[in-house]
Amino acid sequence: MDYLQIVGGKPLHGEINISGAKNASLPLLAMSLLSKTPFKLTNVPHVADINTFIKLLENLGASISRLDKNEVLLDTSSVNNTKAVYDIVRKMRASILVLGPLLSRFHHCEVSLPGGCAIGARPVDMHLKALSAMGAEIDIKSGYILAKAPHGLKGAVIVFDKKTVTGSENIIMAAALAHGKTKIVNACKEPEVVQLCQILSDAGLEIEGIGTDEISITGSEGSLLSLKESAVIPDRIEAGTYLCAGAITNSPITLHNVIESHMEAITVKLQEIGFDINYSCDDDRVCTMKLLKAKNMKAFNITTSEFPGFPTDMQAQFMALATQCEGTSVIRETLFENRFMHVNELQRLGANISMNGNVAQVTGKTPLFGTDVMATDLRASSALVLSALVAKGTSDIHRIYHLDRGYEDLESKLRSLGADIKRLKEQA
Ligand code: UD1
Repeated sequence: MDYLQIVGGKPLHGEINISGAKNASLPLLAMSLLSKTPFKLTNVPHVADINTFIKLLENLGASISRLDKNEVLLDTSSVNNTKAVYDIVRKMRASILVLGPLLSRFHHCEVSLPGGCAIGARPVDMHLKALSAMGAEIDIKSGYILAKAPHGLKGAVIVFDKKTVTGSENIIMAAALAHGKTKIVNACKEPEVVQLCQILSDAGLEIEGIGTDEISITGSEGSLLSLKESAVIPDRIEAGTYLCAGAITNSPITLHNVIESHMEAITVKLQEIGFDINYSCDDDRVCTMKLLKAKNMKAFNITTSEFPGFPTDMQAQFMALATQCEGTSVIRETLFENRFMHVNELQRLGANISMNGNVAQVTGKTPLFGTDVMATDLRASSALVLSALVAKGTSDIHRIYHLDRGYEDLESKLRSLGADIKRLKEQA
């Protein structure tokens, strides 16, 4: 197993490119199951979760070629198996994204229940309830979701009790091949959901309300689609993480390949703390953004929420940043009940954090000192990397397979910004 060794205290400077979004790529890979023609996807990040999803599709019989590090060609015409097995699903909850497309195309499938994960119970009850409303018969047996809809799925009105990102994506894909119109009320507006809808719409599907919380999809009555080549949107969470790397070391850095409107909740918080941010954008909405040094870094408050609110996937990184801001920051996590696993590890580095239920109070500015810490989930791990960048001395970050799930070329990107970071092998 690998670990990262970081010698902290080095100022950062320079520019990096932001990769394609993992959370946008996963539903787009699943969407290939709806296509009758090979579907080419570019700007796909080369990270472990993408490899896992590709394995899942190959296991179903799909033929997938990597044309380049960041380009895949997905041909699902050869899919002859509709069982998503536990061995692959357990590695990544987002595997549940094959449920909607498999069921709408083949009228039956078996998908392993994803089980718990480090950040909370994360059930899939809303996905199943919505598919039932579309006419699916669903049983749970021996840890598998057994779903069938012998005559195909039917359009329905779905009202999600709570906003669910992969739930919205699953039902949009299920609705794509269904008979009739599906209206999803309380749908997610995340850019990843918007891109999924846009590609379906470019393939000729009638979709109203893209980017709003009420989406209507008129299904193709079982006809497979011809999905057009698409480039995955930039990863707003990766961009946010590197902005925090600049911020925590109070260093000017430049990011290429970001979309300004996807970054607002994050940039507004950085501005509140004291940073200036400049954008220059091309005609295609793709921007370069510069984070400039702050005179003073002030404490801030965060409440996580759905897009366009402050993303839960940036909560841990901002908690690390709060340790270097003057005053007490209050961070409230509203989406996941157990998403403070990084707190103990940040405290080991010297952070002053007190907890009360789903609220953390971080008092700064506190000097951090390098030590051994353990990554617990993807974004919690990046908070440890950020803290290590500013800690005095050497930090060893263990269990970095969590980071490898979602950050492409993390060490080389940080090294190009001037960080002292190495990947080493754990002693047996
Ligand atoms: C997605 C993102 C993840 C992000 C999260 C919230 C992907 C691959 N992952 O996860 O990075 O942190 O959105 O922005 O895109 N819930 C239920 N029942 C359900 C479904 C969800 O109770 O059937 C609850 C969850 O436990 C959680 C909340 O709804 O409390 C939101 O979860 P959801 O949006 O579904 O998260 P994911 O789609 O799994």
